[in-house]
Amino acid sequence: MTPSQHSHRLVAIASGKGGVGKTWFAITLAHALAMQRAKILLLDGDLGLANADILLGVMPKLDLGHVLSGAHPATVIVKIAGGFDLLPGRSGSGALANLNAATLDKLSDILSDIKLGYDTVLLDCGAGVDQAAQLMVEMADTLLLVITEDPSSLTDAYAVLKLLLIARSPLQLDVRVIVNMAGSVAAGLRAYETLAGAASGFLNFRPALGGIIRRDERVRDAIRRQSLLLSRTPQSIAGQDVEQIASKLLVRRSEEVAF
Ligand SMILES: Nc1ncnc2c1ncn2[C@@H]1O[C@H](COP(=O)(O)OP(=O)(O)OP(=O)(O)O)[C@@H](O)[C@H]1O
Ligand SMILES: [Mg+2]
Repeated sequence: MTPSQHSHRLVAIASGKGGVGKTWFAITLAHALAMQRAKILLLDGDLGLANADILLGVMPKLDLGHVLSGAHPATVIVKIAGGFDLLPGRSGSGALANLNAATLDKLSDILSDIKLGYDTVLLDCGAGVDQAAQLMVEMADTLLLVITEDPSSLTDAYAVLKLLLIARSPLQLDVRVIVNMAGSVAAGLRAYETLAGAASGFLNFRPALGGIIRRDERVRDAIRRQSLLLSRTPQSIAGQDVEQIASKLLVRRSEEVAF
């Protein structure tokens, strides 16, 4: 399966609850996909509290706000040592939260245009369901919904799913649940089943399992050192879990069903 067969895909990484590991996961997934020779852009879409730049240890001069004000994306995108591109969400120029309708339209145009230059654009969405996060989730070809074993992360993720199903037909949706910081694979599976069972019972839609990422102290260590986990400790448990998710992501759901 070559990356070019999966060109121009928008993948939103979202959660209801904050702090479940979206940004770290988005960065590590971008790296894992780039290692499989896919052309990847990570767009920091957490407009209020963007921080992918910090986790990556870069200090961009321009950000998405400049693109929304008319700058060409190529002047804003920075190259990351892991072999992928970053469109930063902030450069210290001020918060981008509370977008008006015209800016949201502009953001939608930017996403449609920018994905043409990449195999996959990963969108690191802010926690919750602000308008920008909702737009990105609704525009995405694939939604990776990140939860933990924490019950409040399950109820918040359920709310994201419920809102999405108001906007989009379930038949068009490729939603995959990622359980992060799982104590074990079995515990991760239980958390997934709780969410998938509630969604299928009450929303008549059963999201797929995208993968389980186990809790791993090396994640904190990599973040503290502003380094990429797959470079720093290639054999870490969490890193291997993300690599598996990346491999699955390169196969579209329709093809998985066909096998
Ligand atoms: N698999 C893991 N094992 C151990 N710790 C983890 C794991 N994944 C994430 N973390 C920890 O969770 C913290 C929060 O991660 P991150 O900033 O990526 O969350 P987030 O969902 O993007 O938060 P926010 O909602 O504020 O944007 C990290 O600092 C990291 O220490
Ligand atoms: Mg984040």
